[in-house]
Amino acid sequence: MSETKTPAAKAPSPTQHYRPETRLVHSGTLRSQFGETSEALFLTQGFVYDSAEQCEARFTGKDPGFLYSRFSNPTVSMFEQRMIELEGAEAARATATGMAAVTTAILAPLRSGDHVVAAKALFGSCRYVVEDLLPRYGI
Ligand SMILES: Cc1ncc(COP(=O)(O)O)c(C=O)c1O
Repeated sequence: MSETKTPAAKAPSPTQHYRPETRLVHSGTLRSQFGETSEALFLTQGFVYDSAEQCEARFTGKDPGFLYSRFSNPTVSMFEQRMIELEGAEAARATATGMAAVTTAILAPLRSGDHVVAAKALFGSCRYVVEDLLPRYGI
């Protein structure tokens, strides 16, 4: 799967010198102009731009800022950054549901003609994806 890092993941973590216990609570925190002490929940679907040029730069990936919450937003980015700290991972990608994660992880690397080897004892919805949905796409 190709990796698209979120804006927060591109910057060095400001909490990287904190103790591990503190990093697990505070890593990835993006503080707004209001100076809140804990995470703000961003409910926006979109973001404003200083100019049409900046908007274009965002949408073409030249400017790493947020552009649309379905791709990412500060709330999701904070969560991903914290998961990176918890797991010691290189990157993280959050999805809205477990099945979105499962489907993304399965579909992203596969092409028509590929095969999936899976246990029969999968979660029922995962079996549905593997046994009913994937064959519709030649997998
Ligand atoms: C193992 C497993 N995979 C996937 C899912 C699906 O998660 P969601 O309901 O968030 O799509 C569940 C839900 O219980 C699960 O237990």
